[in-house]
Amino acid sequence: MARLLITGGAGFIGSHTCLVLLEAGHNLLVLDDFSNSSPIAIDKVSELAGLDASSASERLQLHRGDIRNQDHLERLFTSAKEQGRPIEGVIHFAGLKAVGESVREPLRYWDVNVCGSWSLLKTMDAHGCRTLVFSSSATLYGLPDLVPIPESAPVQPINPYGHSKAAVERLLADVFASAPDAWRIANLRYFNPVGAHPSGRIGEDPLGIPNNLFPFVSQVAIGRRPRLQVFGSDWPTPDGTGVRDYIHVMDLAEGHRAALDYLFAEDSQKITVNLGSGIGASVLDVVKAFQAASCRSIPYELVARRAGDAAITVADPSLAAQRLGWRTRRSLADICLDGWAWQSANPNGYRKKEA
Ligand code: NAD
Ligand code: WQD
Repeated sequence: MARLLITGGAGFIGSHTCLVLLEAGHNLLVLDDFSNSSPIAIDKVSELAGLDASSASERLQLHRGDIRNQDHLERLFTSAKEQGRPIEGVIHFAGLKAVGESVREPLRYWDVNVCGSWSLLKTMDAHGCRTLVFSSSATLYGLPDLVPIPESAPVQPINPYGHSKAAVERLLADVFASAPDAWRIANLRYFNPVGAHPSGRIGEDPLGIPNNLFPFVSQVAIGRRPRLQVFGSDWPTPDGTGVRDYIHVMDLAEGHRAALDYLFAEDSQKITVNLGSGIGASVLDVVKAFQAASCRSIPYELVARRAGDAAITVADPSLAAQRLGWRTRRSLADICLDGWAWQSANPNGYRKKEA
């Protein structure tokens, strides 16, 4: 089993992936600055994985720090080597992800997402650690011409967040080309990650008013928000509302384990795969499914389209099935049941009071 560095491991996708990796037997170092997460998430992961105080110090170490701080990264890699258990691979979740914020603060997005990835790669290279799983995004496809979207679709992001992800994929391509016999790289292009661990003990914990559909719907169901605004009812879709490929975060976490197993088993290479279900659900499908799962009513109003939205984005997930032997196993109903288990048990997320 490998010793892995998980950047951004306290975040939404990172925390669920840490749990899956611990259950698979890996030992983890988590590096997170908690700019969009809480250390409590890691405590919960440790409990869910059944770690006691002595095994936790060996299996799940938490380091507070910024990926842009090269001295800190250097110390992490060096001390792991000195302990005789070097870092063998990295899953790189740390980054900023809000599209609207990226339009207002492009410098910050390029700094954290691009410079942060650069500083990580530089340190990995210096320490001979050349196995990386990168959190890329379907946002790279912009407004797609073809749905379901294959990985061969053009990379044409339409906002600074998407440009920053495209830049990191470009950087990784260049780094790989410089030493193709050394690097093992997986770009995982996630579609719409949602839901929570079925225990309801870890989940998505957005700060402030959520931008995304699922956390907003959950907060309406729990009574934190009065109603959902549905952005557009005149899209060219069966019910007129936007269609997305929602992927249960536990399926996504398992996709990371599959990608890592694949990289460790195969010769050095770079792969780019979509992680999605291949199934589209409209905004109104989500509202109905969440109402059924929560037994709560979700009031909504139909409003104008949101700028920058596509009508439909759905993955062609066949490459992940072929190369990684991975496909989603959980339905929209599972997503809503597990998302509701988290929201109802933690109305204010990891905080005791509403933020
Ligand atoms: P998240 O915000 O919950 O997790 C990101 C984590 O990175 C947080 O814990 C945050 O505190 C940490 N972080 C941010 N800047 C950091 C820095 N400079 N140094 C160290 N840690 C830092 O987001 P998430 O939804 O778990 O997303 C994880 C990754 O997946 C991100 O790179 C995101 O762009 C990508 N992604 C997310 C989605 C999505 O819809 N959630 C979709 C596609 C891709
Ligand atoms: C889904 C659907 C909205 C909120 C975003 C990022 C993308 C990726 C995943 C990181 C759309 C509608 C939403 C609301 C609504 N993130 N909606 N009312 O836009 O598909 O993807 O998250 O990489 O980059 O852009 O997700 O959840 O915001 O929207 O009607 O209050 O729900 O119009 O049709 P999106 P979303």
